[in-house]
Amino acid sequence: MSNNPSHIAIIMDGNGRWAQAQGKNRTYGHEKGSEVVRTITTYCAKNPEIDRLTLYAFSTENWKRPKLEVEFLMKLLQKYLKQELPTYLDGNIRFQPIGDLSAFSDSLQNTIREVQEATQHCTGLIQSLALNYGGRDEIIRAAVALQASQTPISLDLISQTLDCAIDVDLLIRTGGDHRLSNFMLWQSAYAELFFTDTLWPEFTTDELDQIIHKFKKVERRFGGLN
Ligand code: IPE
Ligand code: IPE
Ligand code: MG
Repeated sequence: MSNNPSHIAIIMDGNGRWAQAQGKNRTYGHEKGSEVVRTITTYCAKNPEIDRLTLYAFSTENWKRPKLEVEFLMKLLQKYLKQELPTYLDGNIRFQPIGDLSAFSDSLQNTIREVQEATQHCTGLIQSLALNYGGRDEIIRAAVALQASQTPISLDLISQTLDCAIDVDLLIRTGGDHRLSNFMLWQSAYAELFFTDTLWPEFTTDELDQIIHKFKKVERRFGGLN
C-alpha cells in the first residue's frame, strides 16, 4: 500500500467567518473561497501523486441558509464553472460532480453537464465538486438503486453504486471545526483526517504541502499489523 495521497477530499469551511472578520458580507468570503478552489485544484493537477480531488462545495443541509446566501452560492457556482473551463482544459483536469444535481435549476444543471462533457477526455486530475451532496443522501440513493436491481449486495457493489467509488486517503477540514458534516461517510472509512484552523479563503498550497508531508509519515494499518 503506497503512502500517496491519491484521493484528497477537502471540507472547505470558514468562508463566512473570514469575510465577517473583515466587516464584509459572508458572500465576499464565498467569492474569495472560489479563487482558492482554483489555486488548490491547479496545484493538485501538477502533482502526479494526486489522482482525485473532491471538494465539498454545497451540502444537502446548506439549503437551510438564508435564501439570499443560497441564491448567491448558486450564481457563484455557475459563474465559476463557466469561467474556469480553460483552467480545466489547460490543466488536463476532468470535472466530475457528485451529489444530487436534480435539485438545481435547469440552467445550472446544464452548465454542470457542459463542463463535465467538455472535460471528459482529460486524463489528469479528476476534480469532483460535491454539490447538493450529503453522505447519507448518497447512501440512500444507492440503496434505492440497488433495491430496484435486486443484485446480491457486496462491498464493491455498494461502492460502485455510490456517487464516488474511490476511497478517500486524506481528508482535510479547514475552519477549525472537527466534524465531517455529512461528507464522504462511506469513502472515508480509513481516511487520514487533518483539521486546520485556517479559514478556507486563507488556505494555501504551502499548507496543503505541509499536510501532505505529515500524511506521508503516517503508518496506515487498515486494521492489520505492520
Ligand atoms: C463553507 O464556508 C462554504 C459553504 C458551506 C458553502 P461557510 O459558509 O460554512 O463559512 P463559515 O463556516 O460560516 O465561516
Ligand atoms: C460543511 O460546512 C459544508 C461545506 C463545506 C460545503 P458547514 O459550514 O455547512 O458545516 P457545519 O454546519 O458547520 O457542520
Ligand atoms: Mg461553515
